[in-house]
Order: sequence, then structure tokens, then C-alpha cells
Amino acid sequence: MDTFFSVAEMSRFSSRSRKEGKSISFVPTMGFLHEGHVSLIREARRRGDVCVVSIFVNPTQFGVGEDFQSYPRDLERDTEIALKNGVDVLFVPGAAEMYPKGYQTYVNVEEITLPLCGASRPGHFRGVATVVAKLFNIVKPDSAIFGEKDYQQLAVIRRMVGDLNMGVEIVGMPIVREPDGLAMSSRNAYLSPAERKSALCLSRAIAAAIELYRSGNRSVPALRNEALRIIGEEPAARVDYVELRDGESLAEVDTADDGTVLALAVRIGATRLIDNRMLGRGVVCRETC
Ligand code: PAF
Repeated sequence: MDTFFSVAEMSRFSSRSRKEGKSISFVPTMGFLHEGHVSLIREARRRGDVCVVSIFVNPTQFGVGEDFQSYPRDLERDTEIALKNGVDVLFVPGAAEMYPKGYQTYVNVEEITLPLCGASRPGHFRGVATVVAKLFNIVKPDSAIFGEKDYQQLAVIRRMVGDLNMGVEIVGMPIVREPDGLAMSSRNAYLSPAERKSALCLSRAIAAAIELYRSGNRSVPALRNEALRIIGEEPAARVDYVELRDGESLAEVDTADDGTVLALAVRIGATRLIDNRMLGRGVVCRETC
């Protein structure tokens, strides 16, 4: 496995690989890799001749007072996980490589970034779209693999890639869950043992809403209230949003159907967690669903 720290090295490698007729599949990450990332790496290896993983905690997608400084970082451990899982190239640029002095170009995806996480984290998706566009230009992938846990992020990236004719195939992979249902996330590392238990209210809320949906209830307020009821039973939880939206456009819906996504963001203590489920996809299950 090669590890590149500079944009120039990464870009040269990608140009050479493409000239040799090799396809590149890419997994962009902010590191602190877990089983969710490993599922993306497996898919990338299945799809391309060369598997590139980037690790970059992107400052432009964090707002003032958010966890940029404290975001968990462990390059040694990430390197071991990447090696063990057959990654060909680890790309670990520094902030000054990605945003050199004088940097002033940003990618702004519009409507789809306004609700949900976009409403509570203004500027977040501008940072995400910008860094992903830059990474695509440097890594030159044929396909890029993202987790569905960041559902809105995936929708935003699909929109950007389509709108800007980027020619990268975007692949979404199912959420990977802990055996008790908690969606895997690098931010789970922030949770104390008591908060870790409280955090189960997210997947429980989804399971309860899905059960109601499966019983035939298509009312958006009823499904939303059912999820809120479960979260409300957990004293440590503070709701950021619980919403049902069209699974593709993220527009509001009058009636729920199989293509509706239930998306939620909940603070457990100081940690903001997100989770989601397409209503048509079935109950919260163990591990990958
Ligand atoms: O999902 C993430 O880890 C990040 O938002 C991404 C896509 C790597 C961009 O920084």
C-alpha cells in the first residue's frame, strides 16, 4: 500500500493508473475508520482495479463551535485497517495542501442542502461539496463509494456530480450497525457508557416508526410523532430534527410511501448523531441492513 501526503503525488499516481487502463474506485473519509468504512472499502475493491481511500478531516465542513478540533484522529490505526482490507493507496493530504493560502473557490449545491442537516449546520454541505469535488479532481475516480448513514450528503453529492457532469459513478452503501442497532459512526467514540445506551433511542425510534408504517399508517405526522415519542422517553436526548422526506429530492411529502426517508438528528449529551431509514426497506436489523 502506498501512502501519499501530497496532492501532486496522488494526482500523478491516478493519471498513471488511468493511462495504464486501470479503473479507480475511491472511498473519501475523515478517518477513524470503523466497520462502516470497511464495507465501503470492500465495495470499492469489488468495483475497481485500484482502491484509493482518502483521510482528511475537512475544516470547511465544520461550523464555528463544532467538533473540528476534537474530531477523533488515529492515522496509525487507520493505516493498519486500510492495509488489512486491501487498500492500494491511502491519500492523507494536510489542510495546507487542500486549501493553500489564497484559496477562494467553493461548490454550492442549492435547494437539497437547505433542510435537515443543512438547516442545523449552515455551510456544512458547501464544505462537503467543495472537498469532494476537489478530491474527485485529484483522485480521478471512476466510482466513489459513500455510506447511506449520511443520507443527505449522498443526495447532495449525487446532485453535484450530475449537475456538473463529473462522470463519477456514485455508489451508496447500506448503514452498518452495531449488534444493538446503533449506526456506526466515528463520533460514537465521544459517547460515555451511559450515553452509548441512550443513543439507542435513534434506531429504536426508526424501528417504531417503521412498525407503524408497516401496520398501514401512511400519515407523516403520525409516523414522525411515533419516532419523537420514543426519543422523548430518553432524558439525555435532544431532538435536532425528525423528518420524513422524499428519498431522492428530500422535498417534503404529504403522505409516506416506500420511497420516503425518515431522517433524524439527535443530540446525546454533547454528541450529535444522525440516522435514517427508507420506509420501504424494512425494520431495523442487526449489522448491515
Ligand atoms: O462523510 C465523510 O466522512 C465526509 O463528509 C467526506 C465525504 C469524506 C467529506 O469530507
